[in-house]
Amino acid sequence: MNKRKKVVIDCDPGIDDFLALWLALRSPELDVMGITIVAGNVPVEQGVKNALKVLKITNRLDIPVYAGAQKPLKKPYISAQDTHGEDGLGESDFEDVTNGICRQNASEFLNKTLMANSDVTVIAIGPLTNIAIAMQKDIQAWKKCKALISMGGAFKSYGNCSPVAEYNYWCDPDAASYVYKHSPVLITMVGLDVTRKIVLTPNILELIQQENSEVASVIRKITRFYFDFHWKQEKVIGCVINDPLTVALLLDPEICSGFKSYVQINTDSGIGNGQSIVDEKSFYHHDANAKVLTQVDSIKFMKLFLNRIAEIDLGLLDQILPAIMGEKD
Ligand code: BDR
Ligand code: CA
Repeated sequence: MNKRKKVVIDCDPGIDDFLALWLALRSPELDVMGITIVAGNVPVEQGVKNALKVLKITNRLDIPVYAGAQKPLKKPYISAQDTHGEDGLGESDFEDVTNGICRQNASEFLNKTLMANSDVTVIAIGPLTNIAIAMQKDIQAWKKCKALISMGGAFKSYGNCSPVAEYNYWCDPDAASYVYKHSPVLITMVGLDVTRKIVLTPNILELIQQENSEVASVIRKITRFYFDFHWKQEKVIGCVINDPLTVALLLDPEICSGFKSYVQINTDSGIGNGQSIVDEKSFYHHDANAKVLTQVDSIKFMKLFLNRIAEIDLGLLDQILPAIMGEKD
């Protein structure tokens, strides 16, 4: 039997974080060693509550949740409750879970786990504050990290917080900059260029409803608010679910492709704050610190996602997804 891939997920749940955790927890190839929470979409306390809710629905309350940084390194904290709702889960008001394992000190957990193993992947789907703090405390631990997959930034795509900046890097540009400057492990930058192509549409929701009404009812509850936001903000029918793409990539790296490059995060105040600047043509002759993803097979992603989360038959998905995702006449 293949060994399970060890992973720690650092997140700010958040609607799409919730879906990313759900996908990871429903993937038998992964050994989710812990979940660390950072201030981002919602304050840390709410993020912890939301992580416990997904652990409960997947029956995995044995996995520990660690509270982390309450605010960005330097910049004042701005949540994304306008996008994700006051409770971070689209105002779905799922009951709080009281019997989970909640601990403090996310960065310490990250470093200890990395130190004690040599094959742990860290998936970071919130602002990079916890990761930067952990690296500042013990960079040696990160030399043992197998891979760092970060949802954040944008290469050719426009921003979602400013014309050029994506939320996770914009929320804490100093942390993102620190991580890109100091990470001993190549960062997979899963930016808006690829995540914008991952859209949960009403048709996909209807497919889930037909095949698994219980799962559909949870997804419907948490995404209604997100659907409305996307319509108001970008005239998108449906919602972009950025974060699960990082988990899918760990399961199947072929879902995305891109190129290696040096990336720097802009910490200047002003319009460029939080922008990920990709030196595609190597003007500065720096070694690559990132793999910047530019292409995604969104059907392949959706097939994996729906099969794992809603247990929809792979044959049926092969038959129906190209048509409902608009890639077939
Ligand atoms: C990222 O920001 C958050 O709002 C989402 O959870 C995702 O991680 C997208 O810009
Ligand atoms: Ca997130």
